Amino acid sequence: MIVLGLETSCDETAAAVVHHDRTILANVVHSQLDNHRPYGGVVPEIAARAHLSHLDTVIRHALADSGLGLDGIDGVAVTGGPGLIGGVIVGVMTAKAIAAARGLPFIAINHLEGHALTARLTDAVPFPFLLLLVSGGHCQLLAVQAVGQYTRYGTTIDDAAGEAFDKAGKMLGLGYPGGPAIESMAAQATDPARYALPRPMLGRPNCDFSFSGLKTAVRRHVATLSAPPSPADQADMAQALQDAIGDVLVDRCRQALKRFSDEHPDGRTLVVAGGVAANRTLRRRLQAVAADSGFCFTAPPLPLCTDNAAMIAWAGLERLQRGLTTPLDFAPRPRWPLDPMAPLAIGAGVKA
Ligand code: KG4
Ligand code: ZN
Repeated sequence: MIVLGLETSCDETAAAVVHHDRTILANVVHSQLDNHRPYGGVVPEIAARAHLSHLDTVIRHALADSGLGLDGIDGVAVTGGPGLIGGVIVGVMTAKAIAAARGLPFIAINHLEGHALTARLTDAVPFPFLLLLVSGGHCQLLAVQAVGQYTRYGTTIDDAAGEAFDKAGKMLGLGYPGGPAIESMAAQATDPARYALPRPMLGRPNCDFSFSGLKTAVRRHVATLSAPPSPADQADMAQALQDAIGDVLVDRCRQALKRFSDEHPDGRTLVVAGGVAANRTLRRRLQAVAADSGFCFTAPPLPLCTDNAAMIAWAGLERLQRGLTTPLDFAPRPRWPLDPMAPLAIGAGVKA
């Protein structure tokens, strides 16, 4: 079985073709970073228009790279939410049109499910596993029990970790997105201890996160620096921030690993996914936490951590193989929690 996947929920226009034997036949990503960089963040209207301009070409490239035409495709999967609604509509309508015109099954995928199931595409990780999903829009810990069965252990009560990286990057004059820039600046730090940053939620008995206080603390420190900050200031602050975010992620994962081990004694893997999982230092630290608890550790290769359509095609395959297709009257969803019970939990409703 072979599925065409589309992703247009944020600032990447992407199409991929994936085989159920876990071969990625094509994976094309057109980044809109250059369109959004002048604004220091993603501008929804610009994103929607850019998806509209590029999606056809991206799909054509993916089909060409795969060596298959639409005749070789068995289903069309697309991010149906959560995300910037203009972009999601572009993707969903395109996928519906292809599915309707070719008489193919249509599968609307929750973007978070795409990130969640990537470790099964790359490493065939068995269910159940514990997932730390850390990106620009999300920061969640989830028990992944089966396709469509997720229990959210914790989420951010304010900002996502990637947002903290992005905002701090902007304040430090490191451009957008902040995460990769902060990672490379941190490598040049000599005295990060001169910036004391808080560790929000550390030691709390639940698995929730909070990053807005960290952002405020960075802003206060930056206000005391020369403008623009010197490279040494940038490097030390970058390392201080990466350390603080790392400490919080490590502490919250420890907490979640305890709960997961009690509830799922058969599960033995910690998976990290989402754009922030591209950070090598954070990966190393989380790997150590997993090892401490006797868990295996999996993080997808870097291009599959950030937004892409291979993860959407793969989630589509997992669903198609189980007969879980979507009616063509599916409405794009700006918000779509993975765990339907999650809105009742603490901190819910803040992020999808
Ligand atoms: O998953 P993703 O591509 O898009 C969302 O769904 O949000 O994640 C993008 C986020 C951005 O906040 C970006 O700054 C962060 O991932 N990111 C990183 C790194 N690479 C990307 N954060 C820290 N270190 C990195 N190396
Ligand atoms: Zn994402």
